Amino acid sequence: MSKKRVVVLTGAGVSAESGISTFRDSGGLWEKYDISEVATPEAWERNQALVMEFYNQRRKQLYEVEPNAAHYALVKLEEKYDVRIITQNVDDLHERAGSGNVMHLHGELKKVRSSVDENLVYELEGWKLKKGDTCEKGSQLRPHIVWFGEPVHMIPKAAELCSTADICIIIGTSLNVYPAAGLVGYTPPGCPVYLIDPAEVNVLHIPGVKLIREKAGTGTVTLVNELLNQLP
Ligand code: APR
Repeated sequence: MSKKRVVVLTGAGVSAESGISTFRDSGGLWEKYDISEVATPEAWERNQALVMEFYNQRRKQLYEVEPNAAHYALVKLEEKYDVRIITQNVDDLHERAGSGNVMHLHGELKKVRSSVDENLVYELEGWKLKKGDTCEKGSQLRPHIVWFGEPVHMIPKAAELCSTADICIIIGTSLNVYPAAGLVGYTPPGCPVYLIDPAEVNVLHIPGVKLIREKAGTGTVTLVNELLNQLP
């Protein structure tokens, strides 16, 4: 018999206990930086150095942190379930923990791409993207990040995946940013949806959601063990 499919939607909160700042919590990144100055195509047009430095710092930090118990629990879940992760995060902690199926909605920090052809994507060596680093067409490389105001190309694929879920788990996202926040709406009727987050998240659009008001590190481990114990 084929394994039941668990679609997991993750946000910054799943990496918080690894030491990566979230965006909208108190002390979060968007309290320290202005979105319009570092995370939009207009910002890139205006001040490439500032935008590059912002992402260089994020990338540098990524080399200093490790996956946490939540990332590892999702790997363990693969023992009995077909686990598909859809993440808003640009870190690679799910992959480094060992998860086999990870889709990045908002890009990946360790990759860079051409600023004239978005299909030219490269792994950056080291953490520092510099002025003068160019793609094969000679244009400046930019962070491989989906900025505010840019299309989220992965959404149709992610929505299709959500429509095949037997179980859905949402971890550590304020569900403020669309279209990602709307993906749960594509899960089939009757699909159980769990949401793990220590804070109160607006879940009015998720009828019947089972709230687990815990940090990812404890909440995910407990839920994964429950789901594993439900099967022989
Ligand atoms: N465990 C689980 N959840 C946590 C933890 C933790 N240890 N710490 C914080 N959280 C929760 C917060 O309560 C909040 O609900 O994580 C959530 C983080 O929300 P945001 O900072 O808004 O991050 P996210 O939802 O991932 O942001 C979405 O916004 O700026 C963009 O592109 C960026 O992908 C990002 C998108």
